[in-house]
Amino acid sequence: MMNKNRPVTARAHTNIALVKYWGKQNENLIIPQNDSLSLTLDQFYTDTTVTFDPTLTADAVLIDNEVAQGSDYQRVVDLLDIVRQKAQTPDRFFNVNSVNHVPTAAGFASSASAFAALAAAASIAADLKLDLTELSRLARRGSGSASRSIFAGFVQWHTGNDDETSYAEQYASAANWDIGVIALTLQKSRKKVSSRQGMQLSVTTSPFYSEWIKLANSDIERIKQAIDQHDFTTVGHISETNALRMHALTLSADPGFIYFTGQTIEMINEIRQLRKMGIECYATIDAGPNVKVLCQKENASKIMTHFNQLLGSENVIYTTPGSGIEYLEK
Ligand code: DP6
Repeated sequence: MMNKNRPVTARAHTNIALVKYWGKQNENLIIPQNDSLSLTLDQFYTDTTVTFDPTLTADAVLIDNEVAQGSDYQRVVDLLDIVRQKAQTPDRFFNVNSVNHVPTAAGFASSASAFAALAAAASIAADLKLDLTELSRLARRGSGSASRSIFAGFVQWHTGNDDETSYAEQYASAANWDIGVIALTLQKSRKKVSSRQGMQLSVTTSPFYSEWIKLANSDIERIKQAIDQHDFTTVGHISETNALRMHALTLSADPGFIYFTGQTIEMINEIRQLRKMGIECYATIDAGPNVKVLCQKENASKIMTHFNQLLGSENVIYTTPGSGIEYLEK
């Protein structure tokens, strides 16, 4: 019994990892090497509509109003294949229409919000009744970080050791935190080394990789304690240290690669300078050159003014904690 061919629309928000996921123990199932912990963000999200269409002989996918092709198309089909398999409907195909409300200028990867929204909309369109844990596991198959975008607030992705045991869940609500993230855009183009390739190269060639796992595991325990104690300073410190250690894995890979540009390093120094002046803020950086600044609301406007002057206000965007997966009535 299918959803009477009704379109199903889901909205998922992107998230920023404070303790990063950087490496898989199983490439096919996307089982990570270490737990990660993120904050879901409000201003950046993806809306995806999935409709079962009995006239189709293959999935039809629009991303930001363009026909998806190549690996972008294939990754969507791969996730829909898992959905078809779970629903035991091998010959049902879907129309997918996905719109990213992630300003290109924000320099956020959209794969976390995109695959979370796709998993949510497709599972309902296929009449699968998944609970949030199962939905997180399904989103994970599209992109690891998507497993965390199912939930609001501070979210922990448990490594696990197989498909069943690797999923995310909310660790704590961020509702009573006046925390925010300022996205600094230094470059808008797609990264040259995808996170997928980059983490694989780090796992297989960085001599520091086994140390990373130990450190990440202890960062998870320490950041959870800091969240419990509502200790922004420790949350920020662990986040900045963890991000730089992730990037040390890229520098130490063979061949080594670098996501930073000169400007990335300048921004890290600016953040440290602001801290010296008593304006508390911390840097975190994903698989690209753009810097995200973790701060508290009371300091946000001062920090924004500072970076507006350096980068232009169109390259400085403030975001606050966001909600978990939602279904929209259309
Ligand atoms: C640096 O989730 O994009 O943002 O699972 O291969 O799709 P795949 O990778 P992806 O990697 C995210 C890496 C990161 C850190 C993080 O979000 O935890």
